Amino acid sequence: MNKFFQKDSIIFNNLSKKRFLITGGSGMLANSFLRQLKKYTKNTKIYCLSKNKLDVSKKNSFNKFKFVKPDYIIHCAALVNADLCEKKIKLAKKNIYDGTKNIIEFAKKNKSKIFYPQSFLIYKNSNKKVSENTSPKPLSVYGKYKLKSEQLILKSYKNSLIVRMGGFFGGEKIDNNFVGKITRHLSSLIKSGTTELKIGDRVWQPTYTEDLAYNSLVLLAHKKFGVYNMASQGYCSFFQLTKKIVEFLNLSKKIKIKKISAKILNQKELAKRPSRLIMNNKRLIREGLNRQRNWKLSLKEYLSNKYFRNLYK
Ligand SMILES: NC(=O)c1ccc[n+]([C@@H]2O[C@H](COP(=O)([O-])OP(=O)(O)OC[C@H]3O[C@@H](n4cnc5c(N)ncnc54)[C@H](OP(=O)(O)O)[C@@H]3O)[C@@H](O)[C@H]2O)c1
Repeated sequence: MNKFFQKDSIIFNNLSKKRFLITGGSGMLANSFLRQLKKYTKNTKIYCLSKNKLDVSKKNSFNKFKFVKPDYIIHCAALVNADLCEKKIKLAKKNIYDGTKNIIEFAKKNKSKIFYPQSFLIYKNSNKKVSENTSPKPLSVYGKYKLKSEQLILKSYKNSLIVRMGGFFGGEKIDNNFVGKITRHLSSLIKSGTTELKIGDRVWQPTYTEDLAYNSLVLLAHKKFGVYNMASQGYCSFFQLTKKIVEFLNLSKKIKIKKISAKILNQKELAKRPSRLIMNNKRLIREGLNRQRNWKLSLKEYLSNKYFRNLYK
């Protein structure tokens, strides 16, 4: 990111004085957008709205935000618990698809640009890297409604940017993804005297929400439209990821990580997820806009936060 920093800081001027509305404001990605916007843009007005302020599934919820007139809507709100989406299909549709429909209507009224963070879970297993041209084939209800929402945006509203993102880590105590859960789990195992943990070998790209938000702002500042893939450089299995977490948190003497097949993990989950999925940031690279760092570098930075040190006290 550093070698591009000067170039990016100039282009970020395109975002100054703009008005941003962020949905799903208590979530992991929304908070990273808020931080990155505050850090890199000037004189912007940011409305970061949690569900209790703006429930995107309810049309009348938008009435009290007519005054915002956002230039950009960063639409992070979604039901992201893929297993819950399998159980509560109507709820998934309401919070993902219907919510997006309402966002499009609101954006049309205000001539706002929609930024839509898409999930890598719209793709199925693949031995080859998937690019923006690979046909999505969601394996889960969550992936299906996320894809339908993307298709609706692309079909009905040209003023939009879709970024298909790798699996997140970020947000520390609100990190409900693998890194957040496993760091808390490791802490309780170590405190209870357990010395071994078995982890599956599913292969994805752990991607830092701060890197994603930064790179997305670069795209918005460059006035980009359409669809991009965006995931960290490199990839790893959950087993390798856990070993790195243990190494970076200096826990190697306290707990050993053993590898098991991804199939064992898959059996425990309601939603089907790909066992191997690696995205190629093809369009970002082609346009010279890939700011994604290697996952190990970003993970090390993330785990150096005080929150993680306190977990193991
Ligand atoms: N997590 C990933 O690995 C990943 C990867 C790629 C893309 N994405 C996408 O990135 C976006 C943000 O994900 P995240 O991981 O940051 O999720 P998150 O932390 O769960 O944040 C999502 C937020 O949306 C809120 N929400 C749910 N239904 C809503 C509604 N009807 N109206 C308003 N807010 C609502 C949730 O509030 P409550 O908690 O109060 O329900 C939550 O605060 C999502 O669109 C997701 O599909 C996620």
